[in-house]
Amino acid sequence: MKKKIIIANWKMNPLDIDAATELFKKIKNNAPKFSNVKTIICPPFVYLGELSLMYSGSKISLGAQDSFWENNGSFTGEISPYQITDLGADYVILGHSDRRALGETNEIVNKKIKTAISAGLNVILCIGESERDDDGEYLRFIEEEIKESLKGISKNNLSKIIIAYEPIWAIGKSKNKAMKPANVYEMKLFILKVLKNIYDASVMETKILYGGSSGPENTESLIKEGEVDGLLVGHESLIASHFLEIIKIADGIK
Ligand code: PGA
Repeated sequence: MKKKIIIANWKMNPLDIDAATELFKKIKNNAPKFSNVKTIICPPFVYLGELSLMYSGSKISLGAQDSFWENNGSFTGEISPYQITDLGADYVILGHSDRRALGETNEIVNKKIKTAISAGLNVILCIGESERDDDGEYLRFIEEEIKESLKGISKNNLSKIIIAYEPIWAIGKSKNKAMKPANVYEMKLFILKVLKNIYDASVMETKILYGGSSGPENTESLIKEGEVDGLLVGHESLIASHFLEIIKIADGIK
């Protein structure tokens, strides 16, 4: 049975350390029971150190939501991937649509991926179109996002990258606004085809996740019929009971 990957993207929440430790405590006390799931929690930077002291097992990993493309130096306000690994995190989300909306380009994402990997982080690379059109322009957009983000990245390093496909139009909505599982499956095949064209058939093992209004109600259909390796969960990851339910459902999928 292939392990599912369930990632929590807390975004800029919660607002204080007590609420963050409370939420994390509930997850760390329950998620490890589901041995068929790898859980990755991505809190705001400021909570990473505290949360990593609370858990020492291997079933849950911590991730950051961004990292800078330089190792260190005069970059006020930025966070080095080395500082993230030093806090005990193993993952970083790069290219999230929230960051792309603030001006992050594929070129920037590409530089960030390279530095993060050399610092020893695994990368969760987010891609996704903002709208769909009848001429398939969105497919060209996705292809370009993948090609430019992965420019100069070796096949060996691709194994340190998980791709999270998140159609922007489906993010942060109610459960029935998530993408249809059949379309998720189509996109997974498309992404793998693009990867195969860049590298070779051996990269078909790359992990592909879906994100965008996923929750307990659609976890099973998205993973089963969408045939993805797991989910990148936003707002539903802030409610411990819902997030644990997602993990439980994913754990039960053969
Ligand atoms: P959502 O967010 O689950 O709230 O749609 C997903 C994401 O933005 O990563």
